Amino acid sequence: MHILIVHVHPEPQSFNAALTHTAVHTLEALGHTVEVSDLYALGFNPVAGRNDVTQAADPAFLHLQREQKAAFERGTTAPDIVAEQRKLTRAELVIFQFPVWWRSAPALLKGWFDRVLTVGYAYGAGRVYATGGLSGRRALLSVTFGSPTSPEEAREVLHQMQDGVLAFVGFEVLPPFVVGGPRSLTVEERQAELERYRDTLAHLALGAPLERSLALS
Ligand SMILES: Cc1cc2nc3c(=O)[nH]c(=O)nc-3n(C[C@H](O)[C@H](O)[C@H](O)COP(=O)(O)O)c2cc1C
Repeated sequence: MHILIVHVHPEPQSFNAALTHTAVHTLEALGHTVEVSDLYALGFNPVAGRNDVTQAADPAFLHLQREQKAAFERGTTAPDIVAEQRKLTRAELVIFQFPVWWRSAPALLKGWFDRVLTVGYAYGAGRVYATGGLSGRRALLSVTFGSPTSPEEAREVLHQMQDGVLAFVGFEVLPPFVVGGPRSLTVEERQAELERYRDTLAHLALGAPLERSLALS
């Protein structure tokens, strides 16, 4: 299986980075191929706007969804967006690795959703949820909170992303992997959490391959 990890943390020595390293090593050892899109390292621009297309369909008025759709049809989507879409298209499982900031995703990831999950590519009229553009792929949120958290709080914080974004564009969303308060853990406790992540990834109930809906490369 080919797996994409969208990694969103500014510090390479963070616990989030350790989780991504753990995922890469674990999944490769299991025979999977893994690609990491490290959004801070890439300097990915999260600000949606006119530069999302190389040629405006309507230069007089920016209607972003119309521009996204026209650009998808004409092949005029900005190259940095197309690069991320190609990574998504190649992947059968996408892991989003990030810390919870303001009970949500860091703005960089929110901007990646805004710019990469475009009309035409990820969804469109009659192409949402089961028929969304990313159907046939699974998504896993691997997140850290600032302090220990309950499953209810995690559900509440992650629901909008899991349902309103990922399921909406067609992903089958797997149960999240959550670590509460990594900074207050001892070295041994951090190792135990990384071990728990290793076990979670090794035992992912991935089942049979889903039917892929995108033929893009
Ligand atoms: C801008 C900002 C907002 C944050 N908001 C939250 C929050 O809403 N809930 C929470 O539990 N922790 C919050 N935190 C704490 C981070 O989630 C925490 O530092 C991180 O998950 C720890 O992982 P790390 O050591 O890999 O950075 C916030 C941190 C920052 C910098």
